[in-house]
Amino acid sequence: MTSKALLAATALVAITLSLPATAAELTVGFSQIGSESGWRAAETSVSKTEATKRKVTLKIADAQQKQENQIKAIRSFIAQGVDAIFLAPVVSSGWDAVLKEAKEAKIPVVLLDRDIDPSGKELYLTAVTSDSVHEGAVAGEWLAKAMSGKACNVVELQGTVGASVATNRKKGFDSVVAKNANLKVVRSQTGDFTRAKGKEVMESFIKAEGGGKTICAVYAHNDDMMVGAIQAMKEAGLKPGKDILTVSIDAVPDIFKAIAAGEANATVELTPNMAGPALDAIMAFKAKGTVPPKWIQTESKLYTAADDPQKIYDSKKGLGY
Ligand code: AHR
Repeated sequence: MTSKALLAATALVAITLSLPATAAELTVGFSQIGSESGWRAAETSVSKTEATKRKVTLKIADAQQKQENQIKAIRSFIAQGVDAIFLAPVVSSGWDAVLKEAKEAKIPVVLLDRDIDPSGKELYLTAVTSDSVHEGAVAGEWLAKAMSGKACNVVELQGTVGASVATNRKKGFDSVVAKNANLKVVRSQTGDFTRAKGKEVMESFIKAEGGGKTICAVYAHNDDMMVGAIQAMKEAGLKPGKDILTVSIDAVPDIFKAIAAGEANATVELTPNMAGPALDAIMAFKAKGTVPPKWIQTESKLYTAADDPQKIYDSKKGLGY
């Protein structure tokens, strides 16, 4: 090899070595909460699709609703030396120690769909979430408009205790109730974001409220609890969507089926595609050092019977919900 050719070859090797990792080389560990709802199942399935599209290796650890399992998964991802960690935090507190470990290992963390306490703000790169206070407010505004000043006793099915989305969806709804004297939340209890618990808690609300006669509306922090509540209302001889109005959050296919059947009234959409924007942010960060905004906000859209629910059901039913 001539000295010119040797120089060129050396330069090529140097350039290649300094190039950023390609997506094909990225491995992301995702500490997922579990599969408590249809929305959660869709988020897991969409995350896999989005990673495959970008040729990223995604390792998903299912925490079965337990924070301690999530902490263990994060520590295992750190030990494996992944390029980034996605975390859907089941509750908002208790993350500082493990996220400090990730930071010390120089592994960027992205929060998906739920937030953590402000003390952890410096410990993650970005959060891809909706504005969950706004979601609660959109649900409340829909009910305020539907009641147009008429008195309405509301029962509320809350999400998982300590989850940012449960705290915020309550806060948003309550802010509308505070401005509308005709709306009153008479009972509020957690249904843990599951259908079974939603049904069980609704049964107890119906019993405590004269067989449901004194309930005007149900507000549920997710559609799965509402689907359970609809079942409870039907079993109690009530007509959900008519005797008792419903408004919930997620926009899963089953709630559109219920809206099409006149058994539910409104839902606020939460996109299951949190991973797509998160992967784009991580890839740009790894390749060019681009620091994403601290909050990548997803859209929250209200749907009612006026939005062709059957068509939406048909378009969503194969998406992993
Ligand atoms: O964090 C998002 C919430 O978690 C969804 O609204 C709910 O269905 C899920 O369990």
